[in-house]
Amino acid sequence: MSFFNHLEMLPPDPIFGLVKAFQEDKNPNKADLTVGIYYNEDLKPEVLKVVKEAEKALVDLEKTKTYLPIDGDQFYLEGTLKLLFGEDLASSEGYRTYCAQSVGGTGALRVVAQTLKEFVTDEIYIPAPTWPNHLKVFKSAGLEVKTYPYYNNKSHQIEFEEMLKTISKIKEGSAILFHGCCHNPTGKDPTKQQWEELSKLILEKKLIPVFDVAYQGFGESLDEDAWAVRHFVKAGHELFACYSYSKIFGLYAERVGAVFAVTSDEKTKKILATNVKPLIRGNYSNPPKHGASIVSYVLHHEILSKSWRQELELMRVRIVNIRNEFSKLMQEKCPDRDYRYIDSLKGLFCLTGLSKEQVLKVIEDYGVYMTYGGRINLTGLNHDNIEYVTDSISKVLKQKD
Ligand code: LMR
Repeated sequence: MSFFNHLEMLPPDPIFGLVKAFQEDKNPNKADLTVGIYYNEDLKPEVLKVVKEAEKALVDLEKTKTYLPIDGDQFYLEGTLKLLFGEDLASSEGYRTYCAQSVGGTGALRVVAQTLKEFVTDEIYIPAPTWPNHLKVFKSAGLEVKTYPYYNNKSHQIEFEEMLKTISKIKEGSAILFHGCCHNPTGKDPTKQQWEELSKLILEKKLIPVFDVAYQGFGESLDEDAWAVRHFVKAGHELFACYSYSKIFGLYAERVGAVFAVTSDEKTKKILATNVKPLIRGNYSNPPKHGASIVSYVLHHEILSKSWRQELELMRVRIVNIRNEFSKLMQEKCPDRDYRYIDSLKGLFCLTGLSKEQVLKVIEDYGVYMTYGGRINLTGLNHDNIEYVTDSISKVLKQKD
């Protein structure tokens, strides 16, 4: 007898499940292009130099490990708000923005999901495609999750007209999720003009936008990558932004994130805060300290903050270079296809155009691991393996042609 007899075996997580399969693969040429982790040219997920520096300093500075407040370290949140909003907007709109530290970006999404479900709406629209965990996080908070068209796999463009059409039919008061920059998995972001149109329509339809921001600085620059969020704030929306330092500080396992709720005015902000705090308290009580202390130390330290920006820029440049090389090699190896679209994408990911069947083949025959939707993490490539990977992908593509 078991209390769990009614359960069925479920498949592994669509992203993390592949890591285990990769580790067990004996192929000496295997390549890991699965999880969104930044790897350097040696394919190592290094700890950033500024993180090491901050950790050393914190050993002496830290006097206690008592609990943080329910919504976290305000100094850390101040720094994060300035990073996302920019100095000017942070000082002009901070008065109506409630900030809470979160357990990574996923934890931020979960707090927002629960806040939406309890106080705002029963439904949220997410782009098709999107990061698979969005569906899980929103569903687990009891929201009904619907999709809006986002990306066309054949033209490799945003399906903007379709997207507007769907959005214009969404019922008033619903939530809609956007990727603030470096869309996961497509790498394709709306243009500024498209963001402007979206902002107008969303105001008109009275929807509440939720921005997922996990890659600020991996696209064009810290400021450019925050353009959409800043534009929506300036346009007068009430909105949520869910922030993650996993990638841009390499603090994956430390779970460092933040929730920003931009409300209509200061009084609403204060009331909302008293309603969100019990949700956090009933969930994980209060956030972890170590990762946020590192970020806060770096952001508020003149020299380390500059060094971090330089390290981030080096990461971004590596991503751009390896993406261009990947696109060039794919174009050479598959001249019948058009791979130029990859050059204009942003962030860690792009879609290779492989079907799930082809992905299974490239994994099995060549040990080239990517997610089943054909997404690759470009930093899983370097000068040693890029020929092999592009050869493998093009051979599988040709088998179908
Ligand atoms: C990814 O998309 O691979 C990353 O965001 C890691 C994750 O948590 O899925």
